[in-house]
Amino acid sequence: MAIAHQSLHNGKSANGMATTPDHFDVVVVGGFGHVGLPLAVSLAGRGRQVCALDVNAEVGKTILQGKVPFKEEGCEPVLRAALAAGTFHTSLDIATVGRADVVIIVIGTPVDRHLNPEFEQVWGLLTSLAPYLVDGQLLVLRSTVYPGTTERLQRELNTLGKKVDVAFCPERIAEGKAMEELVTLPQLIGSEKPEVLARCRELFAPLSTDVVELSPLEAELAKLFTNTWRYTLFAAANQFYMLANDHGADFYRIHHAMTHNYPRAAAMPQAGFAAGPCLFKDAMQLAAFNNNRFYLGHAAMLVNEGLPNYLIGRLKLRYDLSTMTIGVLGMAFKANSDDKRESLSYKLRKILAFECGAVICSDAYIAEPDFVSAEELIQRCDVIVLGTPHAEYRNLKIPDSKIVVDIWNLWGDGCFL
Ligand SMILES: NC(=O)c1ccc[n+]([C@@H]2O[C@H](COP(=O)([O-])OP(=O)(O)OC[C@H]3O[C@@H](n4cnc5c(N)ncnc54)[C@H](O)[C@@H]3O)[C@@H](O)[C@H]2O)c1
Repeated sequence: MAIAHQSLHNGKSANGMATTPDHFDVVVVGGFGHVGLPLAVSLAGRGRQVCALDVNAEVGKTILQGKVPFKEEGCEPVLRAALAAGTFHTSLDIATVGRADVVIIVIGTPVDRHLNPEFEQVWGLLTSLAPYLVDGQLLVLRSTVYPGTTERLQRELNTLGKKVDVAFCPERIAEGKAMEELVTLPQLIGSEKPEVLARCRELFAPLSTDVVELSPLEAELAKLFTNTWRYTLFAAANQFYMLANDHGADFYRIHHAMTHNYPRAAAMPQAGFAAGPCLFKDAMQLAAFNNNRFYLGHAAMLVNEGLPNYLIGRLKLRYDLSTMTIGVLGMAFKANSDDKRESLSYKLRKILAFECGAVICSDAYIAEPDFVSAEELIQRCDVIVLGTPHAEYRNLKIPDSKIVVDIWNLWGDGCFL
């Protein structure tokens, strides 16, 4: 089969020219992303012939140099080994899906500005890849999807006369821990057909044989419930923090009292910004699925999204912020990550820019033109708000003269405001 001109090659033929195989075990669509790349690399690292297919040519070049374009522990050595072994390939050509036994889809599935699921990406992708799908292939949806999407996709393909089975096998890794969790977490596999479930088992066998079989709808809901469960847990801690603080009590002293040698409360999270590309939007997908009758999910959203506003409101009660310089230390959506998608530190910065004399930002892993070092931020700011509790910040020296807002309790003095 002719190699498409857009393919980015990494294999080498005898004369040193780049080659790609005619056939892949797996093509991962969205294979340069936070979920797609570790999955593709993990399968390729275990001997499967894998092609990561994407639309982002720049990122593709970086990956072919053996570099992972985001922070993902342990991914780079496996990527390099798989490139050298000739098991990992990349492509920008959608026709590549026709050269695989299994096609995995793991593109983004956001909600729009009105918090409704955006179906366009998945349907747009289906329209462009359907002509290249080959009878007998297995199509695995790995993106987190609006419930019913798997069945709908199967119907569309049936209508187009494609004899392709669709299964839903959600990704459940936490960014940064993908390489470890891909081989330690059980895989949820969703299909009504025993033979399709058997193919899913075979697909994930190099990673894990611990597999839970579900119907597609059950698997879709299991994924959304998982993320929404975490989101509501964070909201409970954040609501308790605000409640305690409003009544003049130190939340972190209470948190310690609740969790100290008391197993039933041990899982209670600390307060902090519950953000990122998944939890919020998945709670909203679930709400949309239930005709917006999802009071717990909406309440969690209001609590979590309201935390930056709350902190600023409390500061305003005590200080004239209009004359002060405030620093946001940590801009990533979570600790030890370089991912800023849907980070509440940016919301905090936006509100502070309106309320304060000046705002200065810093992050250990994100470089932006106006960001400064942590040390410079501490030196120049009157108030320091810890946006993200990166491990690097634990040993920072902050003079007693500075006002510190440590909602994460990284420095152990609580966050009584
Ligand atoms: N990020 C996480 O920690 C995480 C964890 C579990 C599940 N998920 C889910 O996984 C899915 C992907 O999330 P992500 O964080 O990897 O997103 P991402 O934006 O990092 O990756 C998506 C990739 O898809 C590519 N893409 C977009 N449209 C494409 C198309 N038409 N053809 C080929 N490639 C295309 C993008 O260029 C990008 O590289 C989402 O549904 C998300 O909810 C994410």
